[in-house]
Amino acid sequence: METLMDRLKIETREHHQYLESLPFFTILMEEKLPLESYVGLLRAMAVVHAVLEHELPLLANPVISAVWQEEMRRLPFLEKDLSFIETKNIGDVPEAAKHALQLAEKIRLWSTPNSVNLLGCLYVLEGSTLGAQVLRPKIAKLFNLRTEGLSYLSSYGNDTAPRWKKFKQRMNAVDLSEQQRKTVVETAHEVFQGMTKIVSALYPIELNSDYFASTLNPEAGVHPVTNDPRELFAAIDAGNKTWNAYPYFKWRYGDRGKRFTKSDSAWLVTLSNLPQDSVHHEVEWLGKVLASRGMPQFLLQKHLENLYQALVKSVPERRDKYDKLLKAAEKLQTARRNQISDTLFETLTEEFERMVGPSWSKRLNGAGAILVAAVADEQAGIKKAVTSLEEWMTDSSRFPKKWIDAVQVILRKTRRQPPDPPAPADK
Ligand code: HEM
Repeated sequence: METLMDRLKIETREHHQYLESLPFFTILMEEKLPLESYVGLLRAMAVVHAVLEHELPLLANPVISAVWQEEMRRLPFLEKDLSFIETKNIGDVPEAAKHALQLAEKIRLWSTPNSVNLLGCLYVLEGSTLGAQVLRPKIAKLFNLRTEGLSYLSSYGNDTAPRWKKFKQRMNAVDLSEQQRKTVVETAHEVFQGMTKIVSALYPIELNSDYFASTLNPEAGVHPVTNDPRELFAAIDAGNKTWNAYPYFKWRYGDRGKRFTKSDSAWLVTLSNLPQDSVHHEVEWLGKVLASRGMPQFLLQKHLENLYQALVKSVPERRDKYDKLLKAAEKLQTARRNQISDTLFETLTEEFERMVGPSWSKRLNGAGAILVAAVADEQAGIKKAVTSLEEWMTDSSRFPKKWIDAVQVILRKTRRQPPDPPAPADK
């Protein structure tokens, strides 16, 4: 019987031929492709892979688990290339970003425990490692790249052929009904179509110097972020500063959280163009969203302060505009003070740090303040502010008993609850 992989190859052959013949690739072969087109491809693929690789490990889908392996992740390669390129101020191709988001949306819909669609998607994306080997030397020569900026195209390097062979074996070993095989092939068609739209949008292009949030964070939408590189870099710097000041971010939210810090930070800059009331309104909205996900509004206040400083340093002539962000930070601070005074805030924070001891206090610097601030948010009406944090902060697989006890004591004291009654004495 025809294997699944043979069928996929035969039935998508025309699609592949069409894709290969697009001007993007022909002009690349002539070594005339603009850098924006290449960077646009990396950004678009990052959007697609970010969603796919976020969804895959969460899926309890035995068919997909039989094929997907962690070592097939390609987002890390794309991230590496994009962080190298981030320093080079290269504009976006919005049309390509739009098609990438559309494909990413389809991937989200295909990510269910019983569907086989993602096999078709994995086929197309894994197969593209083969074509990448043809493209890599051309891109390297054209843009004078040695290794940096080429990670995605290199992906598995010399292992590409053996990995493809093993991928084929895993795909062919999956037991599928005829209907399911059909679904896999149809999905591969759809992914080829999506890729065709992306690649067609990437050449020829009208150069555009706008930035979209998806450029900074493949999982964010195409809402505009600042297109002034000075502001953009200030936003990234401030994001890094806030991120590094609270190790809790990295520990809990990992690389994905860092990408959101960047895109949210760049979006916050655009707020400075709005009237003050609207700035407050938007900040309040973001503050509530973040607080419900375990990041008290106190952290947003700190970030807005860092952002203000970075922006004023970078573009001093726009200080008046950036003042609006500082005012939003002040408003968050006042709201917190209305619940918990500065003196109480400091006393409780210090008590927490003492209880956990210097080594843990340093390890999760600022955790005491985060806990106390979460109670302030809860008292101000953000229901999940404490629960979303407490669960993580009292997980015994992560923290020693001393830490968990300290978290509970501080939450109770901040909420002004009486301590637990002593356990009954043994008889
Ligand atoms: C985004 C663009 C591309 C995608 C998604 C893609 C996808 C694929 C897929 C799915 C396969 C596996 C075919 C099979 O079943 O054996 C493949 C193989 C291959 N592709 Fe592409 N491809 C792309 C671009 C290109 C380009 C531009 C070239 C060349 C200029 C190319 C050259 C190749 C080659 C040489 C193979 C190996 C064929 C074989 O060993 O039989 N691809 N590609």
